[in-house]
Amino acid sequence: MKVLVVDDERDIRDAFSMVLSDCEVIGAASLSEAVSVMTEDSVDVAFIDLRLRAESGLDVLSIVKERFPSVCCVMISAHASVGEAVEAVRMGALDFLEKPLSFDRIRLIVDRVSEHVFASRVLSGEMERYELVGSSPAMQRLRAVVSRVADVDVPVLITGESGTGKEHVAHRLHLESRRARGPLVCVNCAAIPEELFESELFGHERGAFTGADRRRPGRIEEARGGTLFLDEVGELPLSQQAKLLRVLESGDFYPVGASSPRSCNVRFVFATNRDLYGEVERGAFREDLWYRISTVLIDVPPLRERREDIRGLAMLFFRRVCGELGRSVLPDDSAFAVLEGLSYRGNVRELQQLVWRCVLSCSGPVVDADCVRRVLSSAGSAGSAGSAGSAGSAGSAGSAGSAGSAGSAGGRWRELFEKQRSLRDARCDFEREYIMYHVERCGGNVSAAARAMSMIPANLLRRMKELGLK
Ligand SMILES: Nc1ncnc2c1ncn2[C@@H]1O[C@H](COP(=O)(O)OP(=O)(O)OP(=O)(O)O)[C@@H](O)[C@H]1O
Ligand SMILES: [Mg+2]
Repeated sequence: MKVLVVDDERDIRDAFSMVLSDCEVIGAASLSEAVSVMTEDSVDVAFIDLRLRAESGLDVLSIVKERFPSVCCVMISAHASVGEAVEAVRMGALDFLEKPLSFDRIRLIVDRVSEHVFASRVLSGEMERYELVGSSPAMQRLRAVVSRVADVDVPVLITGESGTGKEHVAHRLHLESRRARGPLVCVNCAAIPEELFESELFGHERGAFTGADRRRPGRIEEARGGTLFLDEVGELPLSQQAKLLRVLESGDFYPVGASSPRSCNVRFVFATNRDLYGEVERGAFREDLWYRISTVLIDVPPLRERREDIRGLAMLFFRRVCGELGRSVLPDDSAFAVLEGLSYRGNVRELQQLVWRCVLSCSGPVVDADCVRRVLSSAGSAGSAGSAGSAGSAGSAGSAGSAGSAGSAGGRWRELFEKQRSLRDARCDFEREYIMYHVERCGGNVSAAARAMSMIPANLLRRMKELGLK
């Protein structure tokens, strides 16, 4: 923390240096000295005397606020009148300190400012990182829903295909809520073995089971005052669904081995890429739990249904990748034309990877259509970024079908294997690819595609709906 003390009394400046031995304290005796310090150094907090020899502290405050708006200001005065205090706060001062100075109070204020500075620095960085980029009407609606429900402490279920941005939306929701200064704890339900779920979520008491040599808080406790994000909630086995339902209904939970419940102060956010209601109908997901977690439903549409977002997202990713690699590469209009025509079965994540590959494979400052096509056809390319249009648009990137049977298939499967967490998901991805291959080959004629796959058209349509294929 860098602290500036604007006071014409040397003793006062020295007192601050003494109390705040863990901070860098810089003294200034006048407005001009203060300004030159702040121009050279980034100051976190300025203590400003209201009565300087030649100037008014309120004038100093107003200049600091105007020229260095991020600096927190605290006024000091021996003659503090209520009027001046109110005026200083109205002008943006954070607090007031009266002479004779209390060292405890200085410490208290600096600790508070440091928390405030840290939190707002982190928060503004996080807000930027989790901006919901996209100009499509769907994205505009999504942003409006997130802002509307952020502060309402009800469970939210985020649905959408893999890579659409569900986790990104969950982060944003947390950051826009009044719990933003609390923790966001992410739990991947698919990654926790069934028998460990309870102790992972609820924690356990000392001696609760063999090896439990001390009490361990669960994820619900870690998220206290913040948000608990349960990702891939559709993967929870039925026995664990019952336990989760109990928490949602009662608002409290029992750590393993505890005899009394603890109250649960978290906001629940869930995500799934499954058709969860379909799972309810199949008996694989509890209907009562479904109603509980889907009080607010946010569906993140696939990227191919909001092509207007591709340009903005691609620009963001180009900027980020270049920042990370210390490069300066931008796509031209021809590159955008290709990027905007792809089908993105891996959604935003696939676009992000594609941008990485383009930047890595491009030696000059401009990525053009040829470069994008080269990347798309290269081995190891995801391949699912097949052209979205009809066979007539060939040449842009090769249809998903041709990519599927081409040499890049090995890369695509490898990517699929690495990405998938369950056989069930991998099977669904395979089915999607297989069905789309035949549907595209039959020019979108579902009956013909069903015949090619030896299926009854009605069954094919139903399966396509389940798999989120339009
Ligand atoms: N609207 C958006 N603006 C900026 N970045 C986004 C947006 N949507 C997604 N992303 C980025 O795309 C990537 C994939 O998003 P995310 O991990 O949230 O997807 P997901 O739906 O949770 O995927 P999965 O189902 O595979 O877990 C992330 O890097 C995320 O930050
Ligand atoms: Mg996710």
